[in-house]
Amino acid sequence: MKVSVILGTRPEAIKLAPIILAMKANCEYTCDVCVTAQHRQMLDQVLEVFGITPDADLDLMTDGQTLSGLTARAMTALDGYLARERPDIVLVQGDTTTVFTAALAAFYHGIPVGHVEAGLRTWNLRSPWPEEANRVLTSRLAKLHFAPTESARQNLLREGVPDNDIFVTGNTVIDALYLAVDRVRSSFPQVPGLSSELISRETPLVLITGHRRESFGEKLEAICAAILELAEAFPEVQFVYPVHLNPQVRDTVMRMLSGSSSGNIHLIAPLSYLPFVALMERATLLITDSGGVQEEAPALGKPVLVTRDTTERPEALTGGTVKLVGADRQAIVREASRLLSDAAYCHAMSRICLPYGDGKATQRILDAIAARFDVAPVQQEELLPVAVGQ
Ligand code: UD1
Ligand code: UDP
Repeated sequence: MKVSVILGTRPEAIKLAPIILAMKANCEYTCDVCVTAQHRQMLDQVLEVFGITPDADLDLMTDGQTLSGLTARAMTALDGYLARERPDIVLVQGDTTTVFTAALAAFYHGIPVGHVEAGLRTWNLRSPWPEEANRVLTSRLAKLHFAPTESARQNLLREGVPDNDIFVTGNTVIDALYLAVDRVRSSFPQVPGLSSELISRETPLVLITGHRRESFGEKLEAICAAILELAEAFPEVQFVYPVHLNPQVRDTVMRMLSGSSSGNIHLIAPLSYLPFVALMERATLLITDSGGVQEEAPALGKPVLVTRDTTERPEALTGGTVKLVGADRQAIVREASRLLSDAAYCHAMSRICLPYGDGKATQRILDAIAARFDVAPVQQEELLPVAVGQ
């Protein structure tokens, strides 16, 4: 059976890596990895960690690309790729431009689409933007829906997706995370941009990420203002911010935070997956708008303040390890200050919480594909066979 796995950005690569590795190790599958390279450097960082060499590289990223420009270029390039390769199924993951365009191009070619991480919804097309639209449209086009949780399955049923096309699998991000955690616990990787002396200090560390388009401008400025205020109020705490390469993020973050006088804000380049996982484990708390980090941090027992008004990942909110603080300067400062100064409160929010999976999502997804396409199921020992590099 020929499977094309199509991906474009950092989170797609992290979440599809366990599936790609398992399929490449199984002779029942010819697994063709096609990268749109919607992200270039941040995608390559992940592929290198997992030792994945793309079979096709469409090399689409341009500096400051627009949504329509990327969509148009991706449709043309994917059309040519699918016409050449004619896979039996296309697998995509998540809600990016790559995911939607690959699903649409496959649909035009009459090729069934399997959607990993299907059914996440905020029911608000403006938040996250444009991802909510991408995932709704992809669900409409897909044939197999791999829902990470029961609530994602319910969302799909509500939209009329047939029950027997939905498989509740857990999220493959937990499979990838466990692979990485095994590595970083045996040897703490170097973190480019941070000294090992700083990392090993016994003082709190706050890890920050941010990149959502709906926050560009005033909201991102408010988040940065909150970080400045926190850094001044807590001089013993280190604030580490690997800054996303999107120029709309970089320009604001560098302008507002690079000259801070407190000396405890560290703006560094996006990290490879292993150092980032190591820093999540080291962190006291995380401030983020990232989807993946909202799933990973609870699995590591780390409190997360989410700088958004909505989330399509409500399970960890209910679990009490994640709080929505919006892009609201006062709310961010208030909640982070409480976590940094009230040890009992911080401890209560630092529980390991596993609503997004048990590390076996890959097995369930491959089992579902095998049953639907009548191929031999993958054996346990064929899963995740590779040593993850740095
Ligand atoms: C994209 C996804 C978003 C996902 C995020 C993960 C869309 C519309 N957005 O957002 O859903 O959550 O990735 O990070 O699909 N850039 C580089 N090098 C890189 C990556 C990006 O220079 O490795 C710069 C380029 O100037 C590029 C810009 O960032 O044009 C924006 O990249 P793009 O993929 O369009 O949007 P993201 O904000 O990264
Ligand atoms: N991540 C990483 N290096 C970083 C920041 C994040 O490897 O410097 C990982 C993180 O562990 C998570 C994923 O990237 O698995 C999240 O990517 P991002 O926030 O860009 O996208 P989202 O998940 O919001 O779509």
